Amino acid sequence: MNRPSFDGLSQAEANHIQLYSDPQMFELELEQIFYSTWVYIAHESEVPEVGDFKTTFIGRMPVILTRGEDQKINVLINRCTHRGSTVCAEERGNRQQFVCPYHAWTFNLDGGLDGVGLPSGYNDGEIDYDVLSLQTVDRWDSYRGFIFATLSATARPFEQNIGEAKKYIDYYCDLSPTGEITVGKTGIYKQKYQGNWKIQLEGSVEGYHVWHTHKNAVDVMAREVPLMKEYPRLPVKAFDLGYGHNVIENYTLTDEQVFERWPKEFVDTLIAAHGVERAMNALRHRFNLVLFPNFALLEYHVRVIRPMAVDQTEVRTYHTSLVGAPAEMNQRRVREHEFFYGPAGFGGPDDYVIFDRIQRGYQASSAEWVLFNRGYKSEQTDPDGIRSGQHTQETQQRAPYYEYRRLMSISGDENRLAEFLPHAGKQQEVSG
Ligand code: FES
Ligand SMILES: [Fe+2]
Repeated sequence: MNRPSFDGLSQAEANHIQLYSDPQMFELELEQIFYSTWVYIAHESEVPEVGDFKTTFIGRMPVILTRGEDQKINVLINRCTHRGSTVCAEERGNRQQFVCPYHAWTFNLDGGLDGVGLPSGYNDGEIDYDVLSLQTVDRWDSYRGFIFATLSATARPFEQNIGEAKKYIDYYCDLSPTGEITVGKTGIYKQKYQGNWKIQLEGSVEGYHVWHTHKNAVDVMAREVPLMKEYPRLPVKAFDLGYGHNVIENYTLTDEQVFERWPKEFVDTLIAAHGVERAMNALRHRFNLVLFPNFALLEYHVRVIRPMAVDQTEVRTYHTSLVGAPAEMNQRRVREHEFFYGPAGFGGPDDYVIFDRIQRGYQASSAEWVLFNRGYKSEQTDPDGIRSGQHTQETQQRAPYYEYRRLMSISGDENRLAEFLPHAGKQQEVSG
């Protein structure tokens, strides 16, 4: 039987609204994306001490990260092996054991079952402590403290998957004199919006809207960084880094501008710590980086996208600090972050209003296509296969869908896409 063509719903320059509004499509995405590839779960600085834990999600699956007695990190499925309650409801803390609230089954930091409530009610052979541990996610890895996990045994190797994005993570962390950052210590907040998770994925690297949605904020920012006055004309680009990852440069400073922007002592400290090239790269580059499917690294925060339903998403924002940087600099990072992204900020809240409006607009099913063809014809591809375009074009919005199409088209049985995607195979010309 012929497999229906997924290209009918996701094309290089446009997606069908079904990708954003069909509940069955969402279920397929959980399975073939969130449970099949590498997803971001935490930063090592969130669980520095033995007994520290953090709860989060892989797709819809609840997980707990713990720092075990042996200092190693464990990634556990937050689901009691008795009758299924989550064993931990708090988002973070420190403890030696997780006691299920239903019948007091008690699990240690490695997930091992240490005990059960009223054990005498079990007869011999009715309970096996060795096999009733919490399930573990064994495939996780980290780069400069950023931890990613996959439920799949066949996902490509982590090193390969993170690929070109490492360079930008290095720029980010090298702004710290020790090369280390902390994530979430200086603030976390959560924002829900009534829209599909991919709207935030696309919106985390959105150069086109800045001049419109955030014009007032840009005017204020230009007082500190005058080149923001020229935002649409800045000589910066956006890149498709492969595997769905992408980055938009916000601005790139010349050496002269680096010294205007940063105190000389700080520049010297960074050069002494990392050498000229690494230090200047860290000081020069401002960008938003997206790692498909759920992670973004922005100037002062980590953004984690949690898909909840086809039209419901939670975004968790974790502010970051530079270990070893002067206290005033870290305070300034908090203030600048609050200015734009805080719950009462000049920028972020406007985005979420737009995201709600986008999903509402998708109710107009007569208009079927979501376009991101801006700059497609002038997009360039370098010898390594990295696509690039001008920052207000839409190379970065197109980028995730190469990987999306690959993941959504593989595995599963042949009939599955036909069942979920009644429009698959339908072609429509959207370019030009
Ligand atoms: S459901 Fe957890 S102890 Fe029964
Ligand atoms: Fe925005």
